[in-house]
Amino acid sequence: MDTQAKVRTGIPGFDSIVSGGLREGMTIVLSGSPGSGKTTFGMQFLYSGAKDFGEPGVFVTLTQSPYEIVNDFKTYGWDIKKLTDEGKMLLIDARPFKMEEGFIALDESLYRGETLPFMHLTQLIQSSLKRVDAKRLVIDSLTVLDMQYTNMFYARLGLQGMVHSLQNQHCTSILISENTDTPQVPPEWYVASGIVLLHHVRKEDTMERTLQVIKMRGVRHNEQIFPIKFSESGLQILHPRLIP
Ligand SMILES: Nc1ncnc2c1ncn2[C@@H]1O[C@H](COP(=O)(O)OP(=O)(O)OP(=O)(O)O)[C@@H](O)[C@H]1O
Ligand SMILES: [Mg+2]
Repeated sequence: MDTQAKVRTGIPGFDSIVSGGLREGMTIVLSGSPGSGKTTFGMQFLYSGAKDFGEPGVFVTLTQSPYEIVNDFKTYGWDIKKLTDEGKMLLIDARPFKMEEGFIALDESLYRGETLPFMHLTQLIQSSLKRVDAKRLVIDSLTVLDMQYTNMFYARLGLQGMVHSLQNQHCTSILISENTDTPQVPPEWYVASGIVLLHHVRKEDTMERTLQVIKMRGVRHNEQIFPIKFSESGLQILHPRLIP
């Protein structure tokens, strides 16, 4: 029997696929093509954690601006600003560039000249987690960071250190990873304890959205490919064989 504490994701239909939720302190990768719902899944996990389960969360963005994120999710009725004002959620802008007199420049302070990859990001995350006593973390996404390392051994080493530090803090984490169609498997896929894939593919004259759990170490999980949809209040899993 599975006796470990489970973290409920807040994505309707998902927890039952993975024996009741994510294992506390585990790190999973969430991967998919553009527009497949990665950011929505990640934000819903944090939003419902903070709002419904009393678990503060940190969202680290490496792609969209925090302003854009807060605005995008208003359509689901999610008041992210309120949660950040109440200290239940923290949005960290860790995009690897900065604006200088109207020009963009690489932000050397965060990602260059470190002896171990991801060292600065891990430090930034550690201090952010402490600020709100976070139990949940989402990083959106790691792909742009992976790209700057020519030697994947070092990228993997740095990632392993980062994941280890998250485990130590009992922080349940989602690392978003873009599906780049390159033959090389991204290092986070091996380092993380679980992998969830979001598919968004053509079916006849429309597109079909599905979700699949590829791995979940130590958890008995369903291997079906489940249809998903964006409802009025976010993402939900449809269980074709479970609906009466
Ligand atoms: N209010 C809404 N209702 C229904 N669907 C929506 C709504 N808002 C956004 N969507 C759908 O969600 C998609 C965006 O989802 P999301 O940003 O989570 O994807 P993503 O995988 O993070 O994409 P990217 O790789 O570009 O970051 C949109 O392209 C749109 O199809
Ligand atoms: Mg996204």
